Parts: sequence; structure tokens; C-alpha cells
Amino acid sequence: MDKNMGKNVREGIKKIAPYVPGKPMEELQRAYGLDIEKIIKLASNENPMGPSPRAAEAVRKCAGKISRYPESSGYYLTNKLAETLRVSPDNIILGSGSSEIISMAMEILINQGEEVIYPDPSFLIYRILARKIGAVPVEIPLKGDFSYDMDMFLDKITDKTKVIILCNPNNPTGTVIYKKQMENFMAKVPDRILIVSDEAYNEYVENENAGTAFPYFEEKNVVIARTFSKIYGLAGLRIGYGIAKSDIAGFMERIRPPFNTTVPAQEAALAALDDKEYAEKSFKNNIEGKYYLYGELKKLGTEYLPTEANFILCRFKTGAADIINKLEKRGIIIRNMEGIGTGYARITIGTPEENAILINALREVIKESV
Ligand SMILES: Cc1ncc(COP(=O)(O)O)c(C=O)c1O
Repeated sequence: MDKNMGKNVREGIKKIAPYVPGKPMEELQRAYGLDIEKIIKLASNENPMGPSPRAAEAVRKCAGKISRYPESSGYYLTNKLAETLRVSPDNIILGSGSSEIISMAMEILINQGEEVIYPDPSFLIYRILARKIGAVPVEIPLKGDFSYDMDMFLDKITDKTKVIILCNPNNPTGTVIYKKQMENFMAKVPDRILIVSDEAYNEYVENENAGTAFPYFEEKNVVIARTFSKIYGLAGLRIGYGIAKSDIAGFMERIRPPFNTTVPAQEAALAALDDKEYAEKSFKNNIEGKYYLYGELKKLGTEYLPTEANFILCRFKTGAADIINKLEKRGIIIRNMEGIGTGYARITIGTPEENAILINALREVIKESV
């Protein structure tokens, strides 16, 4: 790049702090000479059970087709999702992960200088996407217990507000918007605003009172972003989808990058939707792991936040960085969340073996850190 090019780069882009993903297993392997097979990654809220065998088989089967572009509209997957969700295919739009759905939903509406409201702490991509399109980010703090203050979202609406993003369950807290809160919010939010409901962890929710934006998408202006990266175990294939009224979905379709979802991703997603047994096993593994970790974290005297997702936000009394570093030397990766406050870290719920190894390691590491 010309060394003066930086001067021409948009101010909003210069303000972006690059997204830092969970540490890759390969990095630990290189740093500490560890056996990659033994490294436990509990840092990116992936499905710890590996992919559905049916999805993996679908990928193998389509290997001979990858010299061709995919069918851009994802006809079969769109129809299958429509049938599963009992909506029209016009209500479905496919994305390269649900992040792309969120991005497209913002792009169809927001002009430079207009506002997008979203929770804080939450998924860091919202801030990056807002800056990318020159929007003004308006961050609404969660309450002290990390629950949602929906009135504050409504209070912060101005003439410039175009989009409100809700993250439900919220990453990294695992907290939800309850049905009643959602109902009140939807009744009050002006129709000119697009609600983007990021429901990446929806399938893990256990609490019956937790809400979703799904009942409102036909009546209000809503885009629901869901993903195959989590309970369907396809994070590496990058595939997600949006649910919206057909006019909104149609506008998003105009800016959807051609061929944004790949042949293997579409085939694997179709197979994953059919593999109910895998999704049920993943759900059960998560619930069992969650209660096991609650019990063990409590015994270790580590504060944690009850979760409706596949991760747990916890707080280490002696700070998070040192604990995380020591865990990494033992081949275990969790996510530093000290951006929220001292001691915070996020643990993805693993398999029973992974959870037990983590707890044993934590027991030693916490002892060393006091
Ligand atoms: C809240 C939230 N939304 C969306 C995503 C991204 O999902 P995808 O892989 O579908 O882009 C994540 C991933 O961690 C997430 O935590």
C-alpha cells in the first residue's frame, strides 16, 4: 500500500479495533509444543461434539461438485428452512454465517451518521459493522446483573435511529430477553426502525419464559439472524440464515454477495436439519455440561452467571489473564473477557471429558494463583 494511503482511509475504518477471535488451537501447538489432538478449545462457542455425521457425509458426497458455483439462491436449503419454520421461502435469506445476515440487514437501511442501537457487553461484531458503514454506534449497557434493560433501548431512540440489534441469548453473558419484555418492547418500538434479532444461540435456550422475535417478524420490521455454526455444528462452513418479511428479505437479497454460501455448506446444512438426533444430543450435552460446570465452579469459589446458551461467563477473583495463560500452557483455551471487568472470562461448555479436564486444571491453577 502507498505509505500515504492511510490518510485516505475512511475515519470510521481507522476507529475499528480488529475482531480478536478465540485463540486457534494451532497457536497453542506452536507456542508450547503441545499435541493438537489433546488441545481443548472452549473459546469460540463451537459445538464440542464435532459435526453431525450426516452433515460430514453430505460434505464428502458433494466433493465432486465443488468446481461449479453453488446455486446462489440456495433453493433446496431455503425451501427446507421455510418448511421447518412454517414460513414462506420468500421469508428466508441465506448468509455466510449469521454475521453476514446482520451486516446485510444494517446495510439496507443505514446511511452515514445514522444510529444503530445494540447492547453492551455483547457480540463485538456489531460495533465493527456499525463503524464499517459509517453508522453511529449507540451502546446500551446491560444492568448490573447483566439482564436486559429494554426501556433504555426505547429511551435512546432518536430521529436518527435506523436499527436496533438485540442479541438473545446475549453473548458473552448468556442472558435473555424474556417473552414479556419482548412483547412490551415490540408494542412500543416505532415501525420505522428495523429490529435485528441475533438468535445464534436460540436452540440452546432452556427457560420457557425466554422470548424470541419470531412471533413478531410478520407484523413488525424484524430480521431474525440464526446460524448453523452452533447447535448444528457447522461453524467452519460459514452458513446462517435470516427470517424476515418478504419485502425486507427482498432488499437484503439485492445486496447479498453472489454465491455467498458454498456447495458443501448448503449440503451440510440440509443434512444437519434432518439430523434431529444430533441436535437433540447437542442440546442434552449442553444442559448436562452447564449444570456440571455450575456445581464445580461453585465448589471452586468462582462466580458465574447462569446461562441460556452454550457458554458461561465467570469471574476469577485473582484476575483472568494469569489463569487463562496457565490454562493455555496445559492445552486449554477459554476466552478472556476482561473488557467487561477484572476477572471475567467466558467458557464454552464442552463434552463431559473436556469439562472435567478443564475443572481439574482450574482447581490447580486457581490454587497457584492465590
Ligand atoms: C451472538 C452471536 N451472533 C452471531 C455469531 C456468529 O455466528 P456465525 O458463525 O453464524 O457468523 C456469534 C458467534 O460466536 C455470536 O456469538
